[in-house]
Amino acid sequence: MCGIVGYIGNQDAYPILIKGLKRLEYRGYDSAGVALLKDGVNVYKKRGKVADLERHIANKDVGGTIGIGHTRWATHGEPNDTNAHPHRSMDGKFVLIHNGIIENYGRLKKTLEENGYTFTSETDTEVLANLISYMYDHGATSFENAVQLALKKVIGAYGLVVLSTEEPDVLIAARKGSPLVIGIGKGEYFLASDATPIVEHTNSVIYLSDDDMAIIKKGQLTLKTIFDKTQEPVVQELDLDVGEIDKNGFDHFMLKEIFEQPRSILDTFRGRVAKDNKEIVLGGLYKVIDDLVQARRILIVGCGTSWHAGLVGEYLIEDIARIPVEVEYGSEFRYRNPVIGKEDFVIAISQSGETADTLAAIRMAKEAGATVLGICNVVGSSIPRETHAGVYTHAGPEIGVASTKAFTAQVTVLAMMAMVLGNKKGHLSTERYNELINDLTVIPSKIEKILQQNDKIKEIAKVYKDANNAIYLGRGYLFPVALEGALKLKEISYIHAEGYPAAEMKHGPIALIDENMPVIVIATKDKSYDKIVSNIQEVKARSGKVIAVVTEGDEVIRNMADHVMEVPDSCEMFSVLTTVIPLQLLSYHIALMRNCNVDQPRNLAKSVTVE
Ligand code: M6R
Repeated sequence: MCGIVGYIGNQDAYPILIKGLKRLEYRGYDSAGVALLKDGVNVYKKRGKVADLERHIANKDVGGTIGIGHTRWATHGEPNDTNAHPHRSMDGKFVLIHNGIIENYGRLKKTLEENGYTFTSETDTEVLANLISYMYDHGATSFENAVQLALKKVIGAYGLVVLSTEEPDVLIAARKGSPLVIGIGKGEYFLASDATPIVEHTNSVIYLSDDDMAIIKKGQLTLKTIFDKTQEPVVQELDLDVGEIDKNGFDHFMLKEIFEQPRSILDTFRGRVAKDNKEIVLGGLYKVIDDLVQARRILIVGCGTSWHAGLVGEYLIEDIARIPVEVEYGSEFRYRNPVIGKEDFVIAISQSGETADTLAAIRMAKEAGATVLGICNVVGSSIPRETHAGVYTHAGPEIGVASTKAFTAQVTVLAMMAMVLGNKKGHLSTERYNELINDLTVIPSKIEKILQQNDKIKEIAKVYKDANNAIYLGRGYLFPVALEGALKLKEISYIHAEGYPAAEMKHGPIALIDENMPVIVIATKDKSYDKIVSNIQEVKARSGKVIAVVTEGDEVIRNMADHVMEVPDSCEMFSVLTTVIPLQLLSYHIALMRNCNVDQPRNLAKSVTVE
């Protein structure tokens, strides 16, 4: 949440910062601002999008080769010009951008007020800017030392960059809980919350760890902790292409990412399906696989769409590998005193690898002695760095706030894990193992076919664009798809939508059904088919409108439903990967027809780094 950029070097900082903020806008988009060091500091900030900030700045002095920028997702204080970052200390000497939450900011603010400090904004960040200033005036030996002393007083999470008129040749960056990456150029450095603004400048990066602090001058970087311990910078090569973070001709990132799924799933397979489709090799698990096979149980943690993927994982692993699985929201797990010990394996699923609740759950599980694995998309993010082992999904950058290709990649990894475990445990015969590998590897071509129905799905969207509510129903593997379909609709179109196991309908939700209620039923030909046909009849008997996702050629449901969206027949276990696609497209078109901002839905941010 919130995007941070910084630059120090010999180029004009402003264009680099603005472009960087546009790249990071998906992390938060209620206000934005920049600060540029040049004979003092110029700070410009504005409520709204980065484009609003650009308009606000037009014709102003944007000179300077050192600067910082921020795009905000509000935590403390409503989105307005004053609460936007950067924030200055009262004496104007320190200017700060921050991602995270200073939990004890109330107490710190009170102490500062008692010492004569006044505040213009409602933010925790302005408190930190003033705390640095206070430390500078009360015993700190330097700007760097003032930042150290201030951060030692802070409880909470931060990724921050600060500059000072007192030492105008330096930028200081620090991290605890919120990500920060430093790109290394020739005599210049780029800072950002993730690598997307950096990749067009350099491929060499350093990921900061918690408590790290970087003191950066033109052509010189010193890494230490806030406790003054010298750290050896670990320089890594980015495996990211600029083309991957552009819309490439699509109107929206979400549409691009939906259409990328045949390729992104192939990328998830790449190098992992070996020996002519006869074996799956998950290199990231090699250290733990023998123990994982013996696991007493597996706990899966995640949030949002990643939690839905976790539910699919539960069905897959129990079905194929016969290991008991429980699925938990990170936020619940971390606060509910769960029974967990060293015999347990925890799988944390996260696209961003930075979700605060999932990270906290991981830390708790590690403390309890469990082995923790990650399934993450963003390489180098916190979750892969904090887990014992794991598998990257390799879906490529997902910029649309609504998760699409990350979900199918997560399910693909979970399917591969389940198959490896099933095979090693002896629950899958070699023949069945090979059959399943084949079934999984043909999924991308099936998705290609589904995507060809885009125009037809658009027509269905026209009919339901003004709905106020929607119900999604599925059974077995398709119940998590119902949840995911409902989440996609509500988060981007603001239509209230709920997903249910189809048989639960009779226990309450059926009371909602009337001629105005669209019911989206995922009803492919699997072992629950007859039962879901009965559920459709129950909806129709109460005049509900049925939009069914069906197996190609299903005339029975076609004759009952108001609309059908077809998917090619596929193995029941992997039908999640096909049936979710029309639901993603349906949500996309409905949101667009309602004039909603598809890529940046209101109140949301891509990566939820606060709890
Ligand atoms: O980065 P993560 O996968 O950990 O994010 C989890 C959720 O915040 C995320 O899936 C969210 O629910 C999406 N907006 C859903 O489309």
